[in-house]
Amino acid sequence: MSTSRRGFLKGILGTGAAGAAATLPACAPDINPAPVTDVTASSEGVVSLLVTRYPDLEPVGGALTVRVAGEDEPVLVTHTAKDEFSVLSSICTHAACPLGFDGREVVCPCHLSKFNPVDGTVTQRPATVGLRKFSSKYNPATQVLSIDLRAGESGFPAAVNGEVRLPFAQFPTLRDNGSVVDGVPSGYGKRIFVFRQEDGTLSAVDSVCTHQGCEVQANQEELNLVCPCHMSIFSATGDAVSGVATLPLKKFTATETADEVVLTGVQ
Ligand code: FES
Ligand code: FES
Repeated sequence: MSTSRRGFLKGILGTGAAGAAATLPACAPDINPAPVTDVTASSEGVVSLLVTRYPDLEPVGGALTVRVAGEDEPVLVTHTAKDEFSVLSSICTHAACPLGFDGREVVCPCHLSKFNPVDGTVTQRPATVGLRKFSSKYNPATQVLSIDLRAGESGFPAAVNGEVRLPFAQFPTLRDNGSVVDGVPSGYGKRIFVFRQEDGTLSAVDSVCTHQGCEVQANQEELNLVCPCHMSIFSATGDAVSGVATLPLKKFTATETADEVVLTGVQ
């Protein structure tokens, strides 16, 4: 995350919702960033919320911004229907304002972008990029909502002790120069990209843009990465090439054996 983004989040969310609301333009609608609470996660990255402890979240239509100790960004928890909750990134993809919930849609107080609270897709511009969704499960019997910050994509190898092993048998294109593979390892929870560059060199990088935290996407033809939010471009080795992002993406070490590519530092 860039220094400017860290500073923004600290300045807005560090003072709580009231502080954020005070910065809104005069033309802002009657919607504020969701109230903020601080929690800790388990060592596996799971946050457990006893919903009845949070009056802002307990009724259907309620919402809470949850700051997790040790995590760069808070998440927005919305109570979308009876016994149904959704967990999304709490930061607008347009210009990084903290988001609120009007009971039906996730709303950005700054320029009125709206998002579907269930899947995070954009329902009203100016934002054009959806919000990241986090895995969560609600137990009506205990009234505990469990949020798994490090859930992965099924079928993609997990990160174990910071190591991800990608067998060539499962990812045969990783033998080909000019290829890229991506996926979300459970135990890490964020998308990573693995490149076999044209000269045969391997590289692996994180997907979190260092400008304002959007997820970058691979450009297969150019063999680089493009951020859909403000079009910063990163090389296959994660260096910022052009655009508003100036810091490199997080980099992992990629080596190979006869059977697999091994990534280390995925934590
Ligand atoms: S920052 Fe959210 S709409 Fe502009
Ligand atoms: S979030 Fe702005 S360029 Fe990536």
